[in-house]
Amino acid sequence: MKEWTREERYRRLKDPQELWAMHEEISKSDYRQAFHIQAITGLINDPNGFVWHDNKWHLFYQWCPWGAVHGLKYWYHIVSKDLVTWKNLGVCIMPDREYDNYGAYSGSAMPIGDSLYLYYTGNHRDPDWTRHAYTCLAKLRDDGWTEKYPLPLFGTNPDYTEHQRDPKIVYKKELGRYFIVLGAQTKDKRGCAIIYSSDDLLHGWNFAGELKVPGFEHFGDMWECPSIEHIGGKDVLLFCPQHLKIEGRGGTFNHNGYILGEMDWASLTFNPAGRFHILDRGFDSYAAECANNVQDPDKAVLIAWMGQPDVSYPTDEENWSGCLTLPRELTIRGRRLIQQPLPELKQLRDEEFNLQNYHPGDVEKLPRVSEVELYCRPGDLKMDLFTKEDGTGGFQIHYSEMTHDICIDRSHMTRRINPEAGESRVRNLPQGLQHLRIFIDRSSVEIFVNDGDVVFTSRVFPVTDEAYFTMYGDAFLRMWKLKPAVQDTLVV
Ligand code: FRU
Repeated sequence: MKEWTREERYRRLKDPQELWAMHEEISKSDYRQAFHIQAITGLINDPNGFVWHDNKWHLFYQWCPWGAVHGLKYWYHIVSKDLVTWKNLGVCIMPDREYDNYGAYSGSAMPIGDSLYLYYTGNHRDPDWTRHAYTCLAKLRDDGWTEKYPLPLFGTNPDYTEHQRDPKIVYKKELGRYFIVLGAQTKDKRGCAIIYSSDDLLHGWNFAGELKVPGFEHFGDMWECPSIEHIGGKDVLLFCPQHLKIEGRGGTFNHNGYILGEMDWASLTFNPAGRFHILDRGFDSYAAECANNVQDPDKAVLIAWMGQPDVSYPTDEENWSGCLTLPRELTIRGRRLIQQPLPELKQLRDEEFNLQNYHPGDVEKLPRVSEVELYCRPGDLKMDLFTKEDGTGGFQIHYSEMTHDICIDRSHMTRRINPEAGESRVRNLPQGLQHLRIFIDRSSVEIFVNDGDVVFTSRVFPVTDEAYFTMYGDAFLRMWKLKPAVQDTLVV
C-alpha cells in the first residue's frame, strides 16, 4: 500500500490538466460504478449540502483529488433533476483561505430565495500542525464557484477539544431562529453535538449549548455529521458515533445510526423514544446526509458515503476510492426508519431477463449492472451473487426460517475487504422474509429487505470468474439489466 507524505496528501490542485492522465487510467477500471456517484479521481467521502434549489437537486461531496487518501478536501458539486442521473459541475469550494487552508470539510446547505448558502468546516492547521476548526459560510455563485464570507462565522468553543465540525443548518419557523448543529468531543473524550443559534443566517451566531440526549452521555468519543430531522411528525437524531463497540458490528467501531424521539429546541434536549439503531446493516455506509427541504413532511431523502473511515479498498491501488449510496426515501414505520429505493430508479430498468425456466440451484450469468427482485415464500432462502461457474463462493445472502435471521457474508469472494472487521452481518427479521430488492453495480451491492425495513450496503470487487448467481428457496425471481446513470467526464 502506498505511503503518503504530508506534502503529497495536501498538494494543491492548480490546473485540471494535472488530473487528465490519472482520470484516463481510472476510467478504465473494471470497478467504476455505472449508477452510483463517484469521484472523477481520488477519494470521495461524505455527501454535503444536499438540497433542492433552483429547480434541481444539488449535492456536494468531500473530494481529495490525488488518490485514495484523506488529504486536502474540496467540495465537488453535482446536480440532478430526478436523483437518478447526475451531472458533474466541478469543484465548488476550494480550501484557499487561511481559515480553511487544510480542507473544506463537511457541511450543509440552506436555500433562501434565489441564493444557496453553504455552511462548512474550515479545517485550519498552524505551522506546528495544531488544528483549529472554523464554521464558514459561502454563497453559491451563478458561475458555479462560491463567494466566501471574509471571516468564518465562529471558531472552536474552548470548552471542547478541537474536534468540532460538520455544521448542519436548520431553520425553526416557530422560533424564528436558525440553528447550527455541530459534531463535537468533550474534553473528557465523550462524543456529543453542540448547537449555535442566530436569527440571521449570516451574522450574530452564538453558542446556545450542548445538545442533551438523556441516556447517551457516554456513547462514543466523537460524534461526526449530526443532524436533527423532522419526518412524519417525529424527530430523528442522526449521527456517527466513533470508537464505540456495538454488538453485531464485528470490528467496526465507527457507526452511522439514529435515535427517534422529540426535540425541544428551546431547552436543546432530544428526548429519545427508544434505542440507537444502525442505519445500514451492511459493511460500507457512513456520514449520511438528509436533503434539507423535501416538500413532503412525511418523507426525507437520504444519501450516504458508501465507505468507512480507515478502510482500504482494492481500488486504492488505482488511485480512486469510494462512491455514494443510492439516495433513499426515508419514512417512519412504528419505531423505526424505513429506507426505500426512490420510485424514479425504475427508469433505469432496461431489458428484463427471462427467468421462467429458472429452477432453484441453477447457476446463471449475473449481469454486472442489474436489479434483482425476489418475492419470497416462507422457508429458507439462499441468494449467492458473484459465484463461480460451479455456483460456489460469491457474496452470500442467506435467510433461515428457523431463526428468522438474514445474513450477508462476503468472506467467500476472492478479493477480501477489511476482514479484521468481520465479513458477515446478521439481522433478525421477526416477521420473516417476504421481499428483497437488490441493486448491483460494478463494485457494490445494496439490499433492501422487506420494503426498506432493513438495508445492507456493501462494496464488493468481483474478479473475472466471479460472474454468476445461484438461488435456493421458494421465491419468485425477477432480474433487469440497468442503464448507466452517472457520467465519468472529467469536469474540474
Ligand atoms: C466524516 C468526516 C467529517 C469531516 C469529513 C472530512 O467522514 O470525518 O467529520 O468533516 O469527514 O472529509
